[in-house]
Amino acid sequence: MTILEAIKARHSVRHFKDTPIPKAAAEALENVIGDCCRESGLNIQLVQNDPACFDTLLNHYGRFRNAVNYIAIVGSSSDPDLDERAGYYGERIVLEAQMLGLNTCWVAGTYSKGKCAADIRSGEKIVCVIAVGCGEDQGKPHKSKPLHKLCGVRKADMPVWFKNGMLAATLAPTALNQQKFFIDLRDGEAVITAPKAPMAMIDLGIIRYNFEAASGHSCTAKSDAKSGLLSRFKKYKINFDGCKAGFRDPAECFRVGEAVRLCFDMIATDTNYTFLVDGEPFSPRYEDHCYVLEFAMPDHDVTIKVNSRNVMLREFPPAETE
Ligand SMILES: Cc1cc2nc3c(=O)[nH]c(=O)nc-3n(C[C@H](O)[C@H](O)[C@H](O)COP(=O)(O)O)c2cc1C
Repeated sequence: MTILEAIKARHSVRHFKDTPIPKAAAEALENVIGDCCRESGLNIQLVQNDPACFDTLLNHYGRFRNAVNYIAIVGSSSDPDLDERAGYYGERIVLEAQMLGLNTCWVAGTYSKGKCAADIRSGEKIVCVIAVGCGEDQGKPHKSKPLHKLCGVRKADMPVWFKNGMLAATLAPTALNQQKFFIDLRDGEAVITAPKAPMAMIDLGIIRYNFEAASGHSCTAKSDAKSGLLSRFKKYKINFDGCKAGFRDPAECFRVGEAVRLCFDMIATDTNYTFLVDGEPFSPRYEDHCYVLEFAMPDHDVTIKVNSRNVMLREFPPAETE
């Protein structure tokens, strides 16, 4: 199985067979965990046959079954990038597990930190665990947001490597399947941004790993706070300066970079229309009996104004006075 096949085949599995991880697979998993610890400085551990960690009230209702093996991701409490690092190396281990014929589920909420048997040294903390074992089934694909909500590049403009990376990013696991990330191509390099939100930094690391593994290109991951970029996740408003009624069901809030499409269809005969976007003349397309205004949402509110002039009205010069 190739890494891309593993990315496509991986889905969260919460019900496991009542069998231990086969010895050869457990050894191979220990090897990759060792490599990840050496490279990252994390203290990742494979814990086997410990049912207590998933013994929580929620799991009594059947969320997890036979979840007795897990990978605990532990690291330095003073590492500012701990969550992203945990996501990046954890996903490398998850995909290795998939290639070894095992199944996994990232778990940051529905486990018991107190009962977790991982060895947490002074100055360290546990970020999350990953349940691992032989699944009762292979799980099922998650729903994904439309591509334009996750990426600033049109499919037709994507280089092949970027397209592969983007596909792998959309297939990546994210907490609550929130998919709060945005990927752009800047000066030939992929840049992933994510808001500083709970779990979003772990997700960011996971997505970066998937993107790099599938595309063969390294990319930059930035949280909004770190990058100092204006938030890609903040929405801005369209203000219709007295002309809202002329537009067909207009959406009023858009994220930065999101495609805005407004259709003005209240068109009277013998009337000329001119459009202003933030006070600047704007040339719309004429299509299917309406004027279509299309632009990418900037990082501020936008004001639209429409001026109309009846071309049949004769305009007389001012009367001459004697
Ligand atoms: C950081 C992170 C934390 C997660 N925490 C939990 C959890 O506490 N409990 C749970 O059942 N699933 C958890 N998940 C699994 C997600 O719900 C799952 O990845 C998402 O719904 C997408 O589905 P998929 O993994 O099948 O693609 C977590 C996933 C990630 C990436």
